[in-house]
Amino acid sequence: MAIERTISIVKPDAVGKNVIGKIYDRFESNGLKIVAAKMKHLTRDEAEGFYAIHKERPFFGELVEFMMSGPVMIQVLEGENAVAKNREIMGVTNPINADVGTIRKDFADSMSENAVHGSDSLENAQIEINYFFQPEEIFVRTRG
Ligand code: PPS
Repeated sequence: MAIERTISIVKPDAVGKNVIGKIYDRFESNGLKIVAAKMKHLTRDEAEGFYAIHKERPFFGELVEFMMSGPVMIQVLEGENAVAKNREIMGVTNPINADVGTIRKDFADSMSENAVHGSDSLENAQIEINYFFQPEEIFVRTRG
């Protein structure tokens, strides 16, 4: 299986609940390594730019306001099949439908405040990594 990188964002609701560490534990205990991380309070331009693909959707305004409502924790995850593995660990968009043991089942309250974002394809992962990180902000693990 290929080693991939993907973007994960701990959204403002989960940062507010003080569960960054618990969410990081889900990544690490499932074999994903955090190779870059930063906390940011997104500007309107940053949030609108990141979700530009959804700009025609009826929830776009609500999504942007939510993502600007507090700081987020953004990380690059690396590992075998990282894009799909992260999506599996996250659970589906609506926490009501998320599998038991997923991040969204355990930490999300609703479809709009759903704790985490994860890239949905390898192609989008690269675009999203480039959106938030410079190459020198992403680290190669030298000790395992
Ligand atoms: S799709 O069609 O698969 O792209 O859509 P989906 O992945 O379900 O949702 C894309 C992102 O929009 C957020 N979302 C919403 N926000 C606010 N209100 C409503 N009703 C709503 N529905 C979906 C959803 O959390 C996704 O955010 P990310 O950050 O990409 O997970």
